[in-house]
Amino acid sequence: MIMSTPSKRAVTAVIVVAAGSGERLGYGMPKAQVPLGGETILMHALRGVVASDVARQICVAVPKGDTALRESISEFTIDLVDGGPEISVVDGGSSRADSVRAAMAALEDGTELVLVHDAARALTPERVFQRVSDALASGAKAVIPTMPVVDTIKTVAETNGSDASIAPEVVTGTAPREQLRAVQTPQGFELAVLRRAHEAAGLFDDKQSAAVTDDAMLVELLGVPVHAVRGASQSLKITTPLDLIIAEGLLEGPLGIRWVEG
Ligand code: C5P
Repeated sequence: MIMSTPSKRAVTAVIVVAAGSGERLGYGMPKAQVPLGGETILMHALRGVVASDVARQICVAVPKGDTALRESISEFTIDLVDGGPEISVVDGGSSRADSVRAAMAALEDGTELVLVHDAARALTPERVFQRVSDALASGAKAVIPTMPVVDTIKTVAETNGSDASIAPEVVTGTAPREQLRAVQTPQGFELAVLRRAHEAAGLFDDKQSAAVTDDAMLVELLGVPVHAVRGASQSLKITTPLDLIIAEGLLEGPLGIRWVEG
């Protein structure tokens, strides 16, 4: 693989989507604002992006009407050294895809590549950003970080008729585990490709829109190959209270977070 040097790298932006409500975490505040190891989830995510040194611009989508996250981003920006990335903030939308679209509209002219990252993956290591960025520099139009799946995954359907009294669901198939991957962020794209993918999604009905859980899915529908690089175990998406306990444990562990494989 041909590695890029920073000076030759195409102009790259990172979109950090942080506009989710975080209801499943049960903190009564946007998830990005929830404390983790003495900081907020968003600050951990932003530090990871800056440390990876892949971006010229970082655009953060925050919940509409938010002031606390905007203030913390301003303070974070002041602390950045000269020559660091430009940081901008936009109001997110009612779905993740709407938040991505709002941030894409705010990217600087001349941006060629974009990485879209969930703030909820607060502990994503720098090397995952770099792997995604390097694959784009090697010619990929779309790249996602993935991890092997440890559980056996089955498809199910709601049980009908008399069997409904036995159990609510019945198994309809078993996917071959060696072909399955758990998908993480940051997902990297040629900006023109991601824009085209989101434009196509503008024609979706409500049911189709609700089924969109990542950006790569939309790019797959265009027929553009999506390449996969290795993600990292500590890049878990903080969604439930258990995830937060695991993330705290990773930060506080005696060997530190860098110990974790990936
Ligand atoms: O809800 P979920 O955990 O799938 O959200 C993934 C990421 O997308 C989170 O970082 C969340 O803040 C972001 N998001 C967003 N705008 C929304 C919904 C989710 O930026 N409307």
